[in-house]
Amino acid sequence: MKRMIDDLLVFTRTRLGNALPIELAPQDMGRICRDAAEEVRAAYPDARIDVGLAGDLAGQWDGIRIAEMVVNLLINAVQHGAGSIRVEARGDGEQVTVAVSNEGNGIPRHALPTLFDPLTRVNPSPSPRGTAAGMGLGLYICRCIAHAHDGMIAVESAEAITTFTVCIPRQVRRRD
Ligand SMILES: Nc1ncnc2c1ncn2[C@@H]1O[C@H](COP(=O)(O)OP(=O)(O)O)[C@@H](O)[C@H]1O
Ligand SMILES: [Mg+2]
Repeated sequence: MKRMIDDLLVFTRTRLGNALPIELAPQDMGRICRDAAEEVRAAYPDARIDVGLAGDLAGQWDGIRIAEMVVNLLINAVQHGAGSIRVEARGDGEQVTVAVSNEGNGIPRHALPTLFDPLTRVNPSPSPRGTAAGMGLGLYICRCIAHAHDGMIAVESAEAITTFTVCIPRQVRRRD
Protein backbone atom coordinates (compact mmCIF):
# COMPACT_ATOMS: atom_id res chain seq x y z
CA MET A 1 0.00 0.00 0.00
CA LYS A 2 2.79 2.40 0.91
CA ARG A 3 4.55 1.66 -2.38
CA MET A 4 1.34 2.21 -4.33
CA ILE A 5 0.75 5.62 -2.73
CA ASP A 6 4.37 6.62 -3.30
CA ASP A 7 4.06 5.58 -6.98
CA LEU A 8 0.96 7.75 -7.37
CA LEU A 9 2.71 10.72 -5.72
CA VAL A 10 5.69 10.36 -8.06
CA PHE A 11 3.29 10.13 -10.99
CA THR A 12 1.35 13.33 -10.16
CA ARG A 13 4.53 15.22 -9.35
CA THR A 14 6.45 14.28 -12.51
CA ARG A 15 3.37 14.73 -14.74
CA LEU A 16 3.38 18.38 -13.67
CA GLY A 17 6.79 18.64 -15.30
CA ASN A 18 9.00 18.36 -12.23
CA ALA A 19 11.99 16.03 -12.27
CA LEU A 20 12.02 13.39 -9.56
CA PRO A 21 14.01 14.85 -6.63
CA ILE A 22 17.02 12.72 -5.70
CA GLU A 23 19.47 12.68 -2.80
CA LEU A 24 22.96 11.71 -3.89
CA ALA A 25 25.34 9.79 -1.63
CA PRO A 26 28.13 7.23 -2.17
CA GLN A 27 26.61 3.87 -3.16
CA ASP A 28 27.73 0.41 -4.23
CA MET A 29 25.63 -0.95 -7.11
CA GLY A 30 26.73 -4.49 -6.25
CA ARG A 31 25.26 -4.23 -2.78
CA ILE A 32 22.09 -2.61 -4.14
CA CYS A 33 21.61 -5.49 -6.62
CA ARG A 34 22.34 -8.20 -4.03
CA ASP A 35 19.93 -6.60 -1.52
CA ALA A 36 17.23 -6.14 -4.19
CA ALA A 37 17.53 -9.82 -5.20
CA GLU A 38 17.29 -10.84 -1.53
CA GLU A 39 14.20 -8.67 -1.00
CA VAL A 40 12.42 -10.13 -4.03
CA ARG A 41 13.42 -13.73 -3.11
CA ALA A 42 11.88 -13.14 0.32
CA ALA A 43 8.60 -12.00 -1.26
CA TYR A 44 8.63 -14.72 -3.96
CA PRO A 45 10.40 -17.79 -2.51
CA ASP A 46 9.94 -19.71 -5.81
CA ALA A 47 11.78 -17.11 -7.86
CA ARG A 48 15.25 -18.06 -9.11
CA ILE A 49 17.38 -14.91 -9.25
CA ASP A 50 21.08 -14.96 -10.12
CA VAL A 51 23.26 -11.93 -9.48
CA GLY A 52 26.36 -11.17 -11.56
CA LEU A 53 28.70 -8.31 -10.68
CA ALA A 54 31.71 -7.02 -12.63
CA GLY A 55 34.02 -4.03 -12.50
CA ASP A 56 33.94 -0.97 -10.25
CA LEU A 57 30.35 -0.51 -9.07
CA ALA A 58 30.79 2.59 -6.90
CA GLY A 59 28.92 5.79 -7.67
CA GLN A 60 27.03 8.77 -6.27
CA TRP A 61 23.34 8.02 -6.52
CA ASP A 62 20.05 8.10 -4.63
CA GLY A 63 20.40 4.65 -3.09
CA ILE A 64 16.73 4.36 -2.11
CA ARG A 65 15.46 5.24 -5.59
CA ILE A 66 18.03 3.06 -7.41
CA ALA A 67 17.13 0.12 -5.15
CA GLU A 68 13.43 0.77 -5.85
CA MET A 69 14.18 0.66 -9.60
CA VAL A 70 16.07 -2.66 -9.42
CA VAL A 71 13.37 -4.19 -7.18
CA ASN A 72 10.66 -2.98 -9.62
CA LEU A 73 12.46 -4.59 -12.56
CA LEU A 74 12.95 -7.85 -10.62
CA ILE A 75 9.31 -7.99 -9.52
CA ASN A 76 8.25 -7.39 -13.14
CA ALA A 77 10.49 -10.28 -14.20
CA VAL A 78 8.81 -12.52 -11.60
CA GLN A 79 5.25 -11.34 -12.34
CA HIS A 80 5.37 -10.99 -16.13
CA GLY A 81 8.10 -13.48 -17.05
CA ALA A 82 8.81 -17.14 -16.47
CA GLY A 83 11.88 -19.21 -15.70
CA SER A 84 15.06 -17.92 -14.17
CA ILE A 85 15.98 -14.27 -13.71
CA ARG A 86 19.37 -12.65 -13.87
CA VAL A 87 20.49 -9.23 -12.65
CA GLU A 88 23.87 -8.15 -13.88
CA ALA A 89 25.73 -4.98 -12.88
CA ARG A 90 28.84 -3.85 -14.74
CA GLY A 91 31.00 -0.83 -14.07
CA ASP A 92 32.87 0.50 -17.06
CA GLY A 93 34.68 3.85 -17.11
CA GLU A 94 32.24 6.60 -16.15
CA GLN A 95 29.14 4.42 -16.56
CA VAL A 96 27.45 1.68 -14.58
CA THR A 97 25.02 -0.64 -16.34
CA VAL A 98 22.40 -2.83 -14.69
CA ALA A 99 20.59 -5.43 -16.80
CA VAL A 100 17.65 -7.50 -15.57
CA SER A 101 16.63 -10.37 -17.83
CA ASN A 102 14.04 -13.09 -17.71
CA GLU A 103 12.69 -15.87 -19.85
CA GLY A 104 9.06 -16.04 -20.91
CA ASN A 105 6.89 -15.23 -23.87
CA GLY A 106 8.48 -11.85 -24.44
CA ILE A 107 6.81 -8.50 -25.02
CA PRO A 108 5.04 -8.00 -28.36
CA ARG A 109 6.97 -5.69 -30.67
CA HIS A 110 4.02 -3.25 -30.99
CA ALA A 111 4.03 -2.68 -27.21
CA LEU A 112 7.72 -1.73 -26.92
CA PRO A 113 7.58 1.97 -27.96
CA THR A 114 5.05 2.90 -25.25
CA LEU A 115 6.12 0.41 -22.57
CA PHE A 116 7.60 3.10 -20.28
CA ASP A 117 4.58 5.40 -20.56
CA PRO A 118 2.48 5.68 -17.39
CA LEU A 119 -0.52 3.37 -16.94
CA THR A 120 0.64 1.05 -19.73
CA ARG A 121 -0.02 -2.66 -19.32
CA VAL A 122 0.44 -5.12 -22.15
CA ASN A 123 -1.64 -7.91 -20.72
CA PRO A 124 -4.10 -6.58 -18.14
CA SER A 125 -5.44 -10.06 -17.32
CA PRO A 126 -3.97 -11.69 -14.21
CA SER A 127 -0.73 -13.52 -15.00
CA PRO A 128 -0.48 -17.34 -14.78
CA ARG A 129 1.28 -16.93 -11.43
CA GLY A 130 -1.90 -15.39 -10.09
CA THR A 131 -0.18 -12.19 -8.97
CA ALA A 132 -2.30 -9.12 -8.38
CA ALA A 133 -2.55 -6.71 -11.28
CA GLY A 134 -0.23 -3.71 -11.00
CA MET A 135 -1.13 -0.16 -11.94
CA GLY A 136 1.20 0.10 -14.92
CA LEU A 137 3.31 2.78 -13.22
CA GLY A 138 6.37 0.68 -12.38
CA LEU A 139 8.31 1.13 -15.62
CA TYR A 140 7.33 4.80 -15.84
CA ILE A 141 8.84 5.33 -12.39
CA CYS A 142 11.94 3.32 -13.36
CA ARG A 143 12.39 5.71 -16.28
CA CYS A 144 11.89 8.76 -13.99
CA ILE A 145 14.58 7.38 -11.67
CA ALA A 146 17.01 6.69 -14.56
CA HIS A 147 16.42 10.16 -16.06
CA ALA A 148 16.81 11.91 -12.68
CA HIS A 149 20.29 10.31 -12.60
CA ASP A 150 21.12 11.51 -16.17
CA GLY A 151 20.75 7.92 -17.29
CA MET A 152 18.59 5.90 -19.62
CA ILE A 153 16.57 2.71 -19.59
CA ALA A 154 15.84 0.46 -22.56
CA VAL A 155 14.12 -2.84 -23.22
CA GLU A 156 14.91 -5.67 -25.60
CA SER A 157 12.56 -8.59 -25.98
CA ALA A 158 13.38 -11.33 -28.45
CA GLU A 159 13.49 -15.09 -28.64
CA ALA A 160 11.81 -15.54 -25.28
CA ILE A 161 14.36 -13.42 -23.42
CA THR A 162 13.37 -9.97 -22.14
CA THR A 163 16.10 -7.63 -20.90
CA PHE A 164 15.74 -4.22 -19.28
CA THR A 165 19.01 -2.29 -19.30
CA VAL A 166 19.68 0.79 -17.18
CA CYS A 167 22.76 2.87 -17.88
CA ILE A 168 23.68 5.67 -15.44
CA PRO A 169 26.79 7.78 -14.96
CA ARG A 170 28.77 7.27 -11.76
CA GLN A 171 28.51 10.99 -11.08
CA VAL A 172 25.27 12.82 -11.79
CA ARG A 173 25.75 16.38 -13.06
CA ARG A 174 24.58 18.87 -10.44
CA ARG A 175 21.60 20.94 -11.58
CA ASP A 176 21.65 24.22 -9.68
N1 LIG B 1 10.03 -8.54 -17.50
C1 LIG B 1 8.90 -8.42 -18.22
N2 LIG B 1 8.52 -9.42 -19.07
C2 LIG B 1 7.40 -9.30 -19.81
N3 LIG B 1 6.57 -8.24 -19.76
C3 LIG B 1 6.89 -7.21 -18.96
C4 LIG B 1 8.07 -7.25 -18.14
N4 LIG B 1 8.14 -6.09 -17.45
C5 LIG B 1 7.04 -5.38 -17.80
N5 LIG B 1 6.29 -6.04 -18.69
C6 LIG B 1 5.04 -5.56 -19.32
O1 LIG B 1 5.03 -4.13 -19.20
C7 LIG B 1 3.85 -3.71 -18.52
C8 LIG B 1 4.15 -2.46 -17.70
O2 LIG B 1 4.99 -2.77 -16.60
P1 LIG B 1 4.85 -1.89 -15.28
O3 LIG B 1 4.94 -0.45 -15.69
O4 LIG B 1 5.82 -2.38 -14.28
O5 LIG B 1 3.35 -2.15 -14.83
P2 LIG B 1 2.69 -3.34 -13.97
O6 LIG B 1 3.81 -4.26 -13.54
O7 LIG B 1 2.06 -2.63 -12.84
O8 LIG B 1 1.72 -3.99 -14.90
C9 LIG B 1 3.40 -4.91 -17.70
O9 LIG B 1 2.02 -4.87 -17.45
C10 LIG B 1 3.79 -6.07 -18.61
O10 LIG B 1 2.79 -6.26 -19.57
MG1 LIG C 1 5.49 -3.61 -12.54
